[in-house]
Amino acid sequence: MLNRPGQTGETLRSFAQARGRYIGAAVAPGPLLGEPVYAETLAREFNMLTPENALKFGRTHPSRDRYTFQDADAIVAFAQANGMVVRGHTLVWHEVLPRWLTAGAFTRDELLPILHEHITTVVGRYRGQISAWDVVNEALGSDGAWRNTFWYKTIGPEYVDLAFRWAREADPQARLFYNDYGGEGMGRKSDAIYELVQGMRRRGVPIDGVGLQMHVRLDASPEPAEVAASLQRLAALGLAVHITEMDVRIQGPATEEKLTRQASIYRDMLRVCLAAENCGAFVFWGFTDRHSWIPRYFPGWGAALPFDEAYRPKPAYRALIEALKTP
Ligand code: G3I
Repeated sequence: MLNRPGQTGETLRSFAQARGRYIGAAVAPGPLLGEPVYAETLAREFNMLTPENALKFGRTHPSRDRYTFQDADAIVAFAQANGMVVRGHTLVWHEVLPRWLTAGAFTRDELLPILHEHITTVVGRYRGQISAWDVVNEALGSDGAWRNTFWYKTIGPEYVDLAFRWAREADPQARLFYNDYGGEGMGRKSDAIYELVQGMRRRGVPIDGVGLQMHVRLDASPEPAEVAASLQRLAALGLAVHITEMDVRIQGPATEEKLTRQASIYRDMLRVCLAAENCGAFVFWGFTDRHSWIPRYFPGWGAALPFDEAYRPKPAYRALIEALKTP
């Protein structure tokens, strides 16, 4: 078929596999079950999947005594059928919380067992089937201070350590990550993430890695050397890094020139990851411009992913392949 990569077996997946790395994409159950080319492209190009929304608190735990796993189950089953691993996203976040929780006026003593039960139930259900979890997502603000979230307000900063301990108990095999954005290079946010996870290591909290989201813009992306330095200092703490949500958004029409610059950003970031031994996974937040959070959240912006709206590979795709092929 025209414009389809992979006819020669040269896929992101095959090259990543050869280098012992995971290459992944965030997925939604609607297109996964409804658009054959979505599922075909995923199975061909990726060996790791992240449910984009299906494992968030409000989705899995819609009322206090009821859990729903239909969407997450469908994604996990697809991954297993296609020999892919799953990243779990996310157990503790301040968004997508159900009303029963946020309007419940729970005290600290009431909220702790609720969170414990939630983590135990969700992680326990996928024990052995989800290889890495974003246990806590975005606990720090852009200035690096604690974000004054629902969890922070009632429990205090200790919620982070507790969440990791409970996740470890629920699945001792799963790798546990702290995930955040804006800390990919160097600077205040990156320092704050580093200090947070350094403290966790010192306290003996079971954390295995840091997820760097990497939602970047064509005109503002981190310096590769700074990202390399960031990966390196996390490695020195004994931590893995996953690039967890990469996209490169473009403002206005996606001209050839912009797509070429976008391709360089993708290539540079993947190269930095490949050069770092502790950077085991490189995940995009989606894979096709047909299904991306960007246009809805940033009107006038889009074309952020390696495949276009018709599932055709963009210059970014070819740049990623080149990066993977280059020793
Ligand atoms: O499920 C409803 C659907 O029934 C309805 O028809 C539709 C109408 O707009 O909305 C659907 O829900 C939306 C959902 O995405 C699925 O498309 C929610 O309104 C919308 O808020 C939700 O946005 C997600 C957002 O997180 C909030 O959960 C985005 O898809 C998702 O890409 C985004 O992902 C986050 C990561 O989890 C954390 N890091 C940042 C990243 C981007 O914001």
